[in-house]
Amino acid sequence: METQLNLFSSEKNTDENVILSASEESPNVKKSFVVDASHNDSKNVKYKSLEEAKTAAMVCKKCALCNGRTNVVFSDGIENAKIMIIGEGPGENEDLQGLPFVGRAGQLLDKIFASVNLNRKEHLYICNIVKCRPPNNRAPLEEEANACSEYLKAQIKYIDPKIIILAGAVAVKGILKIKDPKITKIRGQWIESKDPLLANRKIMPIFHPSYLLRHEWNKNPDSPKAMMWKDVQEIKKAYESLTRCE
Ligand code: URA
Repeated sequence: METQLNLFSSEKNTDENVILSASEESPNVKKSFVVDASHNDSKNVKYKSLEEAKTAAMVCKKCALCNGRTNVVFSDGIENAKIMIIGEGPGENEDLQGLPFVGRAGQLLDKIFASVNLNRKEHLYICNIVKCRPPNNRAPLEEEANACSEYLKAQIKYIDPKIIILAGAVAVKGILKIKDPKITKIRGQWIESKDPLLANRKIMPIFHPSYLLRHEWNKNPDSPKAMMWKDVQEIKKAYESLTRCE
């Protein structure tokens, strides 16, 4: 049985009804889950280019987050990246520097990907669900995520990543519209979506690096660190299989 899942629509899914049909379709993918999309308007991207989306974002006043920002944090990394990492929203350092994931969590994210020789200068494109810093580092509200969604849709369309990594529950919620994602349950799984904008991309939720910073880094195989290590290896394998096909 499959369920209906919308990208950027207001319908909610629970992660129980999203994780439905497991398939073994690639030797590199232990398990993958297919989610369906009931609306197919997500390909109707408002902006005609990434540059146009960025220009609009830089002066955006679509939600109240614009009042507290120092900088709009649009992205970092390369525009022909095969891997896009989507986080939650800028924190203090990101707001000050205008770049995503440059604080402690970002440095850890860089280390995690560097462990499999992937980095933002050569391989990754990094962005967030919202482009302006929420006050006191709170999670973005649904209306803030919705107000920002046209920018993210443009980023997905024009970067055209084959692999999308969702760092933390807010990114899972924002992209897959899962109401209350249990990141401990779905992390490390490849999710395939039939949503036109997401179709033919491998999507994997991972722990947010801030979560790892809050947990002890021990060698226990069930520790968040060990799981992240496993997940990044899986991401590297998927990346390698893409580059082998070229
Ligand atoms: N956390 C995020 O989710 N994104 C950032 O850019 C920084 C911290």
